[in-house]
This record gives sequence, C-alpha cells and structure tokens, in this order.
Amino acid sequence: MPLILDSSSESSNQSEADGREELRRVHHEADVVIVGAGVLGSALAVALADQERSVILLEKSLKEPDRIVGELLQPGGYEALIKLGLRQTLEGIDAIPVTGYTVLYYDESVAIPYPANATQEAGSGAEKSAKPSTPEGRSFHHGRFVSRLRAAALAHPNISVFETEATSLIKSTHTDQILGVESLTGKTENDYYFGSLTVVCDGYASKFRRPYIHHTPQVKSKFWGLELIDCPLPTPHHGIVVLGKDSPVLLYQIGTHETRILVDVPEGLPSTSTANGGIKGHLGKVVLPSLPPMVQPSFKVALEKGALRSMPNSFLPPTMNKTRGLAILGDALNMRHPLTGGGMSVALNDVVLISELLSPENVPELSDTALVLEQFRIFHWRRKALTSIINILAMALYSLFAANDWQLKYLQKGCFRYFQLGGKRIEEPVGLLGALIRRPFVLLYHFFSVALWSIWILIQENGLLLLPLSLIQGLLVFWKACVVIFPYIFAELRS
Ligand SMILES: Cc1cc2nc3c(=O)[nH]c(=O)nc-3n(C[C@H](O)[C@H](O)[C@H](O)COP(=O)(O)OP(=O)(O)OC[C@H]3O[C@@H](n4cnc5c(N)ncnc54)[C@H](O)[C@@H]3O)c2cc1C
Ligand SMILES: *[C@@H]1O[C@H](CO)[C@@H](O)[C@H](O)[C@H]1NC(C)=O
Repeated sequence: MPLILDSSSESSNQSEADGREELRRVHHEADVVIVGAGVLGSALAVALADQERSVILLEKSLKEPDRIVGELLQPGGYEALIKLGLRQTLEGIDAIPVTGYTVLYYDESVAIPYPANATQEAGSGAEKSAKPSTPEGRSFHHGRFVSRLRAAALAHPNISVFETEATSLIKSTHTDQILGVESLTGKTENDYYFGSLTVVCDGYASKFRRPYIHHTPQVKSKFWGLELIDCPLPTPHHGIVVLGKDSPVLLYQIGTHETRILVDVPEGLPSTSTANGGIKGHLGKVVLPSLPPMVQPSFKVALEKGALRSMPNSFLPPTMNKTRGLAILGDALNMRHPLTGGGMSVALNDVVLISELLSPENVPELSDTALVLEQFRIFHWRRKALTSIINILAMALYSLFAANDWQLKYLQKGCFRYFQLGGKRIEEPVGLLGALIRRPFVLLYHFFSVALWSIWILIQENGLLLLPLSLIQGLLVFWKACVVIFPYIFAELRS
C-alpha cells in the first residue's frame, strides 16, 4: 500500500478508517470478532466501535427476529442503553413505558411502582435532567428492538456486519488461544474471520460454550406465549404477575394493541398430558379460569387462533472467561428464569462494564491477551453487584411463585402480604427487580424478612393453642427458605 502523506489529520484519519474497513471486508480481520447480533452482540459492537476499535459482527440471520423473549426492559437496563448512546433504538417502535408491577394473588392485588431515587449512583447534572424523574422501563416487540440495535451497528463506520453462521472457533495450533471464527455463508461457502478478541454471544442454545463452561443449563419449566389483541389490563403501564394455586403468569403490553401473556408450565405437569388435551387443554381448562376476568375474552380468542409458542426457562450460573482471545457473554454465559425480565438488563449492563474495562485507556491493544484476561477476571466479580441480585432474585422468586409444597405456599403468601405492608417493603424489592439497586445485601434482607413474615402469618393462622406445632412448622418454612436461596448464592461465589 502506498504511504499517504497528508498534512490534514482529518483525512489521514479517514484513510486509516478506510484501511481498516478494507481489512475487515476483504481480509476479514478486525480487533474484535463478535458472534451473534442479538441484544448483547449488537450493543457491544457499537460500544467498542465508539472507542475506535475495528469490529466484525457475525449474525446467522439478519431478518427481523420473531420471538417471545426479551420484550420488557427494566429501568436499570434502559439506563444502561442510554449510557451506551442507544436510546434512539427504543424510539419509533411503539414501545410502551413501564412504571412498575402489579401482583395479583387470588382475588387480591398490590401495585408496586418503581421507586424514585432507587439508584444511589449520582449522575452528572446534565445526565440527570435527561432522565425521567421516576424510573421507567420499556416493553416492545423484541424483533423491532433487535433490528434497531442491528441498524445502529450497520450504520457505524467501524463495524462490518456479515450474515453468516459461525460453525467453529479457530484455535492457535501451539497455544490454546482463540484466533477467530470459521463460518458458513449461504449454506455452502466457508469463511474465516480473525480478531485479537473473539466474543461469543450466540444466545441460550450456544453451541460454542461447551468446552469452556462446565455447567449445563437447568430447565425446570417453559414459558408458553400468546399475543393478546386489545386486551384490557387491571393497571396500564405495569407488568402483571398472576399468582394462585398454579405456576405464575405474566402479562405486559408490547404495543398499542398487543399484549404478551407468558404462562409458566413446569416440566411433566399432569394437566398437560395428552389425555388432558396437551398444552392447549391446560391453558383452556386450568389457566383461563385463573386469569383476571377482563383478560379472559382476549385470551380465549388468542388460544383459538392457536399461535402458541414456547421457550425453555433456563438457569446457568456465570463462569469466568479464562481462555486467551475468547470471551463468552450474554445468555451463552449466564441465564436466570425470565420471570423477573432481567436478561437484557444484565446484557446491557455487562456491555457498559466491559466497555469501561476494555477501553483503550485501560487496554491499549486487545492483542495483549494477558491484560484482557485480567480485565475479564475483574469483570466476573464486579458485574455481580448487579447481576448476582438479578440471578438470585429470579430463581428464588420463581420457587415461591411456582410454590408446589405447603412451605413454599406459606412463603408465597408471606411474600404477597409483605408487599401489602408497602413502603420500603415494596420499594426496595422492586428496585432490585428493576436492576436499580446494586447492593446484594438488600436482597438477602428482604428475602429473610419475607421468610419471617410468612412464619408470623402461620403462627397467627394456627392460633395460640397450636403454638408448639406452629414453631415446628415455622422452622420447616425457614429451612425451606434457606434451601431455596443458598444454592443460588453459592453459584455466585464460584469463579
Ligand atoms: C421466555 C423468555 C422471556 C424473556 N423475557 C425477557 C424480558 O421480558 N426481559 C428481559 O430483559 N429478558 C428476557 N428474557 C431473556 C432475554 O431474552 C435474553 O437474556 C437476551 O435476549 C440475551 O441476549 P443475547 O444477545 O445473549 O442472546 P440473543 O438475543 O438470543 O442473541 C443471540 C444471537 O446470536 C445469533 N446466533 C446464534 N447462533 C449463531 C451462529 N452460530 N452464528 C451467528 N449468529 C448466531 C442469533 O441469531 C441471535 O441473533 C427472556 C427469556 C425467555 C426465555
Ligand atoms: C472509528 O474509528 C476511527 C479510527 O480509525 C475514529 O477516528 C472514528 O472516530 C471512529 N468512528 C466513530 C463513529 O466512533
């Protein structure tokens, strides 16, 4: 290549950028190769490219995704999106503001708005005034949001997007370092992409994590989804959680006319057997009558239309990235039950943290793989201030909300009665759920307060005469609370 001498630094920057573009397009070489243009991959590509890294983004299908996942972004995830300069990706897609949750428990209900001032991090003045005064999330059609994120990547001068399916990682022959990715384009053509860092974020069914992550995702239930049209809801702009004698149901608006319903169905539930009419039988006979009356007509219509879809609800604890040249992120790395809608907030906050840790000031060259690994070690522990809360809360709350024994049913009732007490007893729990509070101790405090409140309810219900029995039962309830939460706490303490 001829040496270009130019007095203006702007045009030499331009020619440098052109050179890097050509390196990506023709030679498939970049600083970073990202596998999967989902929520995490697209946002990470933009964040790193904004820091002047040269980025290749690989996606097996650039068609707008049509999925029942990732439709409600918690306020703490929305804040991360804004920090990344990607606020516009939620504009003009008919996204609905979300201001809190409402929990229905049999015939009772409690509204739990996101609290003002839940975040203790003080932003700069300008940043603050741009924020809504009380935290807001957004709910929307997943595919529209992902398409907008991809559009931001496609428009970025430092990113090249390729529609191709990654098939394997390219390993150095003499070290274990990952050098890039092999892929299949148009089902016939083999391609190779090389980067100092390869990021794998190919989602829940990742086919690359196997040799690097020694846990397998645990699946205890599925979410079955339907789209309801013009369905009235008890509290607009709230996510609705329906509790009762069966597994929980979620409802939230995803567009002016569309509402998503997700029904949790545990594995091997007798009412879903073929003799009972399969999943459709379960939804019609068991779920329909348990829904709020105003929701039932649109649920019936949707069920008759029959566009039923399901997704596994997985748990996968996080693992530290320890392989040179490789980082596994997003659902490929870490998953929790989607009951609390935490996945995208984890993904976007992870992107914020990684772009800080890998910034050119901290890591001048991504080819310094030892330094990059050290930054990922820091990432593994530092992200927990937020992500351990979201992971543990989702799993523990799911156990309570899908209560299948008497102790769990007491904890479920105790949890609802605790919310009814109001004040800090709803503000902090929903601040945790909304990805706004970054103090894991707050979660422990409220979880065990719920356990004690459940025992108090049990004692009151049994009456004074049965006090000795109540004490034994209370111990069993407390023991159950420990059994519910400690495995998920331990899972967070491992590297
Ligand atoms: C039923 C359900 C409901 C959920 N609801 C919510 C919610 O309301 N709120 C929330 O925050 N989270 C929710 N989640 C979780 C959320 O969807 C995920 O955490 C989030 O989508 C993870 O983002 P990701 O980028 O890691 O993966 P994905 O968004 O799944 O992206 C992975 C991308 O990789 C691509 N890809 C895969 N393999 C290859 C390959 N070999 N080569 C190239 N590309 C490839 C895929 O096409 C896809 O575009 C839900 C999850 C489930 C299961
Ligand atoms: C892209 O990278 C170049 C360096 O090659 C940099 O000058 C430019 O500002 C970057 N563009 C954006 C939009 O960040």
